[in-house]
Parts: sequence; structure tokens; C-alpha cells
Amino acid sequence: MTERKRSQKSRPNGKPDAISVLILHGPNLNMLGTREPEIYGHETLEEINKRLAAFGNRCGAIVESFQSNHEGALIERVQAAKMQRFSFIIINPAGFTHTSVALRDALVAVDIPFIEVHLSNINSRESFRHHSYFGDVAVGTICGLGSQGYDLALQYAVQPRT
Ligand code: DQA
Repeated sequence: MTERKRSQKSRPNGKPDAISVLILHGPNLNMLGTREPEIYGHETLEEINKRLAAFGNRCGAIVESFQSNHEGALIERVQAAKMQRFSFIIINPAGFTHTSVALRDALVAVDIPFIEVHLSNINSRESFRHHSYFGDVAVGTICGLGSQGYDLALQYAVQPRT
């Protein structure tokens, strides 16, 4: 994983904010469990989100998940994350990975470090999946490890930073 700039924020009383991670899921990921299980596995999005929230709880981090099939809704959620002072974003942009300059621009605009996650190995699939609009501006990309990719990304995101 490559390192990208991380901002160090603090409250007015000088205490650092609690680590807070927003997990974003793009289109069709609400269908996990029944959607092409041979590629995306049998777990539902709810099961994955519950596991991630439980891990966040154990680490004392705030973990919130959001899924949308709409590009604009994802962009608005990213913009709101800035106001809410989220410290990290984990995003599986799904089909928007290969099409959305606008969602990429939103992530760059809010300047919140993020990890790109894909359940499948996008590099070993159809050639139109090989290009991502997010990889070069992400802290790192995890793909092909199934839902475990989210757990690994979250483990990284909750690490205390100086
Ligand atoms: C995906 C890969 C994308 O190419 C695809 O459009 C998805 C899911 C993945 O998690 O493997 O919807 O992001």
C-alpha cells in the first residue's frame, strides 16, 4: 500500500477526534449474497457491515456504513463526511470504479484518506474492469480477497496516527 497525506485534526480543546471510518458501498452491492456468489461470495452486505461495526466497537472507533445505487447520493455522502469530520473512508465504488470521475473528484475534494476495496480481483476480469478512477488517489487498493478486504482496510484505518 502506498501512503498518502493524512490530516491530523483536533477538537477546540486540543484533544484529537475519535477515529471515525465511513464505509461506502456502490451500486448493486446491496445484492451481495445472491448476486453472482461465485464471484462475490455468499455473505450479505448486512452481515459484512455488522462485522465491521463490531470490530470498530472493539477498537473504540466510530464505523458507519452507507450503500447507494446512485452516484449523486454517494457524492453527497462523501461531501457530508467532511462536515462530520470522518477521519477515514473505505470505499467499494463497484461499477462506478470504472466510470465515475465525479465520485473520484468528491473524494479528492474532501481530502479524507481512503482505501479502495473490491471483493473480486478486478485485474483478472474483463479488460473494462482493469481501469479504476480511484487507485491513484487512494491510500491503497485491496482487491480479490473477498469481504476480508474490508476487514483488512478497517484494521489499517483504525490505527492511531501521530
Ligand atoms: C466490484 C468489481 C466491479 O468491477 C463491479 O462492477 C462491482 C463489484 C468488486 O467488489 O469486486 O460491482 O467492485
